[in-house]
Amino acid sequence: MSHYAQHIQTVRERFDAALSATGFSSVLVYAGQPRVAFLDDNPAPYKVNPLFKYWIPVTQSPKSAIFYRPGEKPVVYLFQARDFWHAAVDVPEEEWQQHVELKIIDDVQAIANDLGEQLKDCAFIGENFAQPVADWPVATVNPAPLLDHLHYHRAYKTAWEVDNLRQANLLAARGHLAAREAFFAGADELRIHQAYLSAMNFRESEVPYNSIVALNEHSAILHYDIYQTQAPSESRSFLIDAGATYRGYCADITRTYARQAGFFADLVEAMDSAQQELLSEIKPGVSYYDLHVSQHLKTAQILADFGFINGSAEAIYEKGYSSAFFPHGLGHFIGLQVHDVGGFLRSDNGDSYPRDERHPFLRLLRPVEEGQVFTIEPGLYVVDQLLEAHADSKDINWDKVDQLRPYGGVRIEDSIVVGGDGNNENLTRDAFSKLD
Ligand code: GLY
Ligand code: MN
Ligand code: MN
Repeated sequence: MSHYAQHIQTVRERFDAALSATGFSSVLVYAGQPRVAFLDDNPAPYKVNPLFKYWIPVTQSPKSAIFYRPGEKPVVYLFQARDFWHAAVDVPEEEWQQHVELKIIDDVQAIANDLGEQLKDCAFIGENFAQPVADWPVATVNPAPLLDHLHYHRAYKTAWEVDNLRQANLLAARGHLAAREAFFAGADELRIHQAYLSAMNFRESEVPYNSIVALNEHSAILHYDIYQTQAPSESRSFLIDAGATYRGYCADITRTYARQAGFFADLVEAMDSAQQELLSEIKPGVSYYDLHVSQHLKTAQILADFGFINGSAEAIYEKGYSSAFFPHGLGHFIGLQVHDVGGFLRSDNGDSYPRDERHPFLRLLRPVEEGQVFTIEPGLYVVDQLLEAHADSKDINWDKVDQLRPYGGVRIEDSIVVGGDGNNENLTRDAFSKLD
């Protein structure tokens, strides 16, 4: 059986279990449709419902839907406008079409008409902000127990999903190499971003999130996406956090570069080694929370080694200093979404782990298990807003912090597939080494 055939079988089984556990007899997964801006008729970039592309690798066919009743073949209503304003999106003949009953429609109401009375007992999953979908007499819209059940199991990726994630990482790595080259050639942030897109043959709306393309102190702004159009007179450091999608699956990669050998290059290298050491601690049974704390201790050690803070790694962590330099979570699930859902779910019945007060931005609290895919993305930055709380600290060597500030900071981010007993796959490093 092909990887896709196995995948859709798994998706069917997961829907069977979720529907049976939550008492619904069928489901209608709506692909969604673009929203328009206020007082305008221009559509915003369209993002397909992730639970639609979970079934089939179709990401650019808004107003389509999948109807599934356990035991029956899924029905795909594929919307293709008969419309002289827009070009029809080409949906090539592919394997997925053998696994579904395909119905081409050119009017979204045809879905409801075709389903008739069946609509009344089905659970609708998707956005229904527009007519006529908003008025369809479905049993319920986005019931939380059904979504939780599906989201819990989505954490375990099928072989086909991992194939797609591998390709997404290859694409993004290609973009990253072009961006690195543009940085060393002295380009400004916008030109670097354009080099990134161009190397992947992507338009901007195709990347899974706004690329973070940051020179110098901009690297300390966690979600920096302004893109200056003038290069700074001295381009000292470069942090790029940028992804790609392949058949609906996302890559999310960060790399940091120093223009010259010296203090900042050494810091990047130390962070890279610490990240790789952390990668070797990932195995089924450990908790992702403990990995996050382990990374804090490594980051704290680097803060001590580089003379930013006096004290042991443990003391630096306990006093909260490492959180000022590393304020975000170690990572998150990744797959159909960059921040794949389900990181707080304790089980498929919707129970969840309480958010941790010490680490409020950590999005993943589940134990590590085989088949999960998540990012590992430690960082170390000068965020003045967070350092204010420690302004009177005698432990912090402020002249050292001042030395780092013009470089912004460092983040290194890879995506990992958890294998049995520590036999993990690093999708990101493997992609870079294929291209080198
Ligand atoms: N690029 C967003 C993140 O790393 O989570
Ligand atoms: Mn990430
Ligand atoms: Mn990222």
